[in-house]
Amino acid sequence: MKRTKIADLLTSPELNREVCVKGWVRTRRGNKNVAFIALNDGSTINNIQIVVDIEKLGEEFLKPITTGSCICATGLLVESQGQGQSAEIQATAIDIYGTADPVTYPLQKKGHTLEFLREIAYLRPRTNTFGAILRIRHHLAKAIHDYFDTQGFYYFHTPLITGSDAEGAGSMFQVTTLDVANPPRTPDGKVDYSQDFFGNATNLTVSGQLEGELGAMALGGIYTFGPTFRAENSNTPRHLAEFWMIEPEVAFNDITDNMDLAEDFLKYIIKYAMERCADDIAFLDKMYDNELTARLNFVINNDFKRLTYTEGVEILEKSGRKFEFPVYWGADLQSEHERYLVEEHFKRPVILTDYPKEIKSFYMKQNDDGKTVRGMDVLFPKIGEIIGGSEREADYDKLIQRVNELKMSTESIWWYLDTRKFGTAPHAGFGLGFERLVLFVTGMTNIRDVIPFPRTPKNAAF
Ligand code: 4AD
Ligand code: MG
Repeated sequence: MKRTKIADLLTSPELNREVCVKGWVRTRRGNKNVAFIALNDGSTINNIQIVVDIEKLGEEFLKPITTGSCICATGLLVESQGQGQSAEIQATAIDIYGTADPVTYPLQKKGHTLEFLREIAYLRPRTNTFGAILRIRHHLAKAIHDYFDTQGFYYFHTPLITGSDAEGAGSMFQVTTLDVANPPRTPDGKVDYSQDFFGNATNLTVSGQLEGELGAMALGGIYTFGPTFRAENSNTPRHLAEFWMIEPEVAFNDITDNMDLAEDFLKYIIKYAMERCADDIAFLDKMYDNELTARLNFVINNDFKRLTYTEGVEILEKSGRKFEFPVYWGADLQSEHERYLVEEHFKRPVILTDYPKEIKSFYMKQNDDGKTVRGMDVLFPKIGEIIGGSEREADYDKLIQRVNELKMSTESIWWYLDTRKFGTAPHAGFGLGFERLVLFVTGMTNIRDVIPFPRTPKNAAF
């Protein structure tokens, strides 16, 4: 018999017909006459209850059906006698696909800590919490593609292996096929990358932006959505070494258009997730963060506050607040500063613009004051920076001057600089950290809990 997903059975139960469900046992309870199996198949946070007449199937037969085991159950779908569910199945037959020894299966009880679950990341998708998070993650990804598609953007695939360092951060993972224990050397003793796979030194990308700009200069509006890698040793609840980024890039947009796009985009995808993932968000709200739904509603219903970095720093200086990191004009803002502006001062998302050029990347459009660049960061409650972006420097001379000031090598980015020679145009874009978005929408507080297999310093086991 064909399997029906539990989500479909529970949303529109057509009763008194035979159905077949397959999934993993969450609990089994009951008495000597009847057993109740709560089954989950990942299609919804809700379990379906399977009622088993023990006399019919035999007590011995039921014994291996313990928490974590996988079964196929066939039976009559009837109105539920118990509370909290619309329908249940009166089993006529059960097939056991796989048992899970109660002595060794780690997910026996409810209420494991998130820390414990991180240690068994290979099994945690089986919990209610991670089921909810991963379904929300999926729907957010879908919403992002939908949004850009309806706005006429093209999904542009940028390389993961690159010879350039887009952010100038110098914290990249090297990619090589050379023997690291004994690499070939040039006469002056340096590693000879001409003998490496690509004929030069390569790394995993920290951002698809530079290549994305090439796409925008041909297709008008593009977005990337892919993994990015940063070897910073920042062991914080908001940093991963491997994270997913969405980077739209749009020809003819200026910084205001860029802010409008970022705000509209974020509101659309959050609203989409609230509509599609109502059960999962309600669960996380109840179990972890009672203000989650209110916070999501607040963000989609209010304008983001826009101000310059300079104005932001003034507010922080006047706040009388003692911050762990000192705040002054020129300082790179820390998450404590960002969250003060968002959560305490404005009480809404904030977009800061026009940062000092020293703390931002070389490609940002230079303002006439000679001190600031047309960058923008979108700051969110509980998260701090969720988006970083800018209008780009479209003028070849100004861009090359900045590259030289920063003593950057033009060797690996000549192709990028060329865009400013051949039909340059004003343009702007930004990068949304996907996991920070998932953090915000799920109300989780540690970024390791919103990606199936987090990659962090000293941790890439599974
Ligand atoms: O601000 P960032 O470094 O900007 C860029 O990479 C630009 N190339 C984007 C652009 O203009 N196209 O990173 C963008 C966003 C941040 O705002 C943050 O949300 C996220 O990426 N991010 C990280 N998320 C998780 N772990 C990390 N280590 C992250 N670093 C940045
Ligand atoms: Mg940034």
